[in-house]
Amino acid sequence: MSEPLRLAVLISGSGSNLQAIIDAIEAGELDARIDTVVSNNADAYGLERAHRHGLPTRVFDHREFESREQYDDQLRRYLETVAPDYIVLAGFMRILTPGFINAFEHRILNIHPSLLPAYKGLHTHRRALENGETRHGVSIHLVTAELDDGPILMQASYPIDAGDSEADLQARGHRLEHRMYPELLRRLAERKLTIDSEGQILHDNARLEKPLVYAG
Ligand code: GRF
Repeated sequence: MSEPLRLAVLISGSGSNLQAIIDAIEAGELDARIDTVVSNNADAYGLERAHRHGLPTRVFDHREFESREQYDDQLRRYLETVAPDYIVLAGFMRILTPGFINAFEHRILNIHPSLLPAYKGLHTHRRALENGETRHGVSIHLVTAELDDGPILMQASYPIDAGDSEADLQARGHRLEHRMYPELLRRLAERKLTIDSEGQILHDNARLEKPLVYAG
């Protein structure tokens, strides 16, 4: 038996992805432990979700820091004491500094609502609709210093139907996210997916050449 995967989950808002991860752990589907939930926003609803499940939380309010570097430095020092296997960004609405990212190189995961490398940044659903795309999706990737640019681990795509609104796409994407993040973490927990200290990614002992496709 291997040890449970130790996670630090970083949020800024609703925390529905956090909830999905908690639910998967509590259902015995994911052999992981959330050692801390961190938010930059004391009002994040996700903190309430964490409390409800007895998880430790910590707020680092970015408005109390003079610079991004100082903020990330505090966050880094705290997370070094927690020493998680992975830092799971789940709607954490802050761009992290290279100093922070280097400190946890190849150990920071993010979920992004688009088929990366398309639609990095914000408002991905709106932009996809404006461009007349016929498909959109969700990506989980490793975080590097470039925004939404690290190696993509897993993707899921869904069709855009005529008449879909931004909210329709958001809802469709969210439903996928809630199944996909626990699934990706499950593969890490089972060591089916491994990421070594050099950033080499193996899936079923073979180098991951292209993102895993999550079919739901
Ligand atoms: C998700 O849509 C995710 O793709 C993006 O932020 C959103 C977080 O939602 N990075 P929630 O806080 O997990 O509900």
